[in-house]
Amino acid sequence: TPLSHIRNFSIVAHIDHGKSTLADRLIQSTNTVSEREMKEQMLDSMDIERERGITIKAQTVRINYTARNGEDYVLNLIDTPGHVDFAYEVSRSMRAVEGSLLVVDSTQGVEAQTLANVYHAIEADHEIVPVLNKIDLPAADCDRVAEQIEDVIGIDASEAIRVSAKTGVGIEDTLEAIVHRLPAPKGTLDAPLKAMLVDSWYDSYLGVIVLVRIMDGVLKKGDRIRMMQNGSVHHVDRIGVFRPGMVEIDALGPGEIGFLTASIKQVRDTRVGDTITHEKKVCDKALPGFKPSQPVVFCGLFPVDSAEFEDLRDAIEKLALNDASFSFEMETSAALGFGFRCGFLGLLHLEVIRDRIVREYDIDLITTAPSVIYHIHMKDGTMRELHNPADMPDLTHVDHLEEPRIKATILVPDDYLGDVLKLCQDRRGIQQDLTYAGSRAMVVYDLPLNEVVFDFYDRLKSVTKGYASFDYQMIGYRQDNLVKMQILVNDEPVDALSTMVHRDRAETRGRAMVEKLKDLIPRHMFKIPIQAAIGGKVIARETLSAMRKDVTAKCYGGDATRKKKLLEKQKAGKKKMRQFGKVDIPQEAFISALKMD
Ligand code: GTP
Repeated sequence: TPLSHIRNFSIVAHIDHGKSTLADRLIQSTNTVSEREMKEQMLDSMDIERERGITIKAQTVRINYTARNGEDYVLNLIDTPGHVDFAYEVSRSMRAVEGSLLVVDSTQGVEAQTLANVYHAIEADHEIVPVLNKIDLPAADCDRVAEQIEDVIGIDASEAIRVSAKTGVGIEDTLEAIVHRLPAPKGTLDAPLKAMLVDSWYDSYLGVIVLVRIMDGVLKKGDRIRMMQNGSVHHVDRIGVFRPGMVEIDALGPGEIGFLTASIKQVRDTRVGDTITHEKKVCDKALPGFKPSQPVVFCGLFPVDSAEFEDLRDAIEKLALNDASFSFEMETSAALGFGFRCGFLGLLHLEVIRDRIVREYDIDLITTAPSVIYHIHMKDGTMRELHNPADMPDLTHVDHLEEPRIKATILVPDDYLGDVLKLCQDRRGIQQDLTYAGSRAMVVYDLPLNEVVFDFYDRLKSVTKGYASFDYQMIGYRQDNLVKMQILVNDEPVDALSTMVHRDRAETRGRAMVEKLKDLIPRHMFKIPIQAAIGGKVIARETLSAMRKDVTAKCYGGDATRKKKLLEKQKAGKKKMRQFGKVDIPQEAFISALKMD
């Protein structure tokens, strides 16, 4: 296809504003797939994504479109994730295309994530076409939302396209806008091959699949290619495009987007943002590389049943094959035995991985308190990174601690502003900015990441009845008065519940945790003290009283089958618990105890 007839674009939207529905419509209306093949929300392929309604792995599809002017165009859509944890994936896939559709729900308006993603598009020099979706709904207010796009984002919305991805109104106008308002890609056909490695993932049949965008030259089946970062050479055994199923073709030219396979074993051998060229005829300059995504939240994953450790290792290794942004190393804990310390891009990423282990590999897990990376400045002038509160060194050698801070942007209707400010204040936030756009406020806070990773987003949603939107970026490290708080159950420290907290908030947090644990831990035959402590000093304490009777006592020893049944039930329940000394702690306790109300 000549460059003038190619358009590459992505769709920027806030969660639920209709990105997937619109993408499905664009694909469907051009007969890229038949109705029969059309699954709901075809772009989100993983089950978990579908359930949660979020898009994680960037995907792509090639659409053939005959425009009103009678010309045939090839439109390449790259799907981008909508959640803050995956900001890095958004920014890199934006570099592979020239334009974006900015989809805004015309009954809702601009949200924080829309803003964050649209800035990635602006940074990548995109032409941006605003699309006002859901105009079939009575609450749609296109004029207001168009005005808001201009006020808040600062892009021209006078020619915003009015669409209902549900009924199909405006879909053809959208396709025409892609053809006429977005620029064609640039590139030189007879130059040495220069291709961008946009993404890669593991497929159990084909091995690693590499998504590429050709800048210059031609990539053909059978070519020997070189990855410019590490110089590795591979033989290309397949080239193809997504329509949206994989279709093999012979070659990809300038401006085109497609995939290659080259017997690459692991996703880790492909660096996103790398430049791919030919082994012999090398292009003169590599594309500006991307910074790799760094894990920011760490937690331990342990099997409830220690016999499942090898299964857990297997599961984690398989998942890591397909997700280079997730890190892991073996960890041992006195109480939990063998497990893994894992690093994630954010809490959602953590939850996705944890859920997949539980569901796809059927392993019951204990997840320890999520922690951010602290910088420990030692008295001897060195600095150490602390990924796990359990590794906190002896305080006599520590000079001071620093914690990561973020800049959080929250958009919220006026009515809830007070609650949002209170929440941010409670989480040690420092207000940076407060502005209004219509009846919505935009607040910017400097917050400790540690106060955000656990349940900030849930709390924010609940205090604003779901009307607030939130986005953040890391801004750096700052010193503060942080201490390690331990939890002791029956006088034994439970490492998995150790957390780093701010000294001024330790009592409140400790009290809340022991109170919760008192409700979560079942009674035993003896009294159990539950304590929170800093260093050797107990700062909060509760006592779980002893159980009065044995569950089977009321069976008078007579009904043997009933007694057996009850014991079996107990045993099954026990499987979900973990023994600490003489005390059984249920799995839920580890997470629930950490949630703050
Ligand atoms: P994520 O995949 O979570 O980022 O969401 P999304 O932006 O892809 O939204 P999705 O396409 O899943 O749509 C969200 C909801 O809005 C779904 O229930 C859709 O059926 C609905 N929806 C999408 N477009 C329209 C529309 O034009 N009109 C109406 N009434 N509903 C729509």
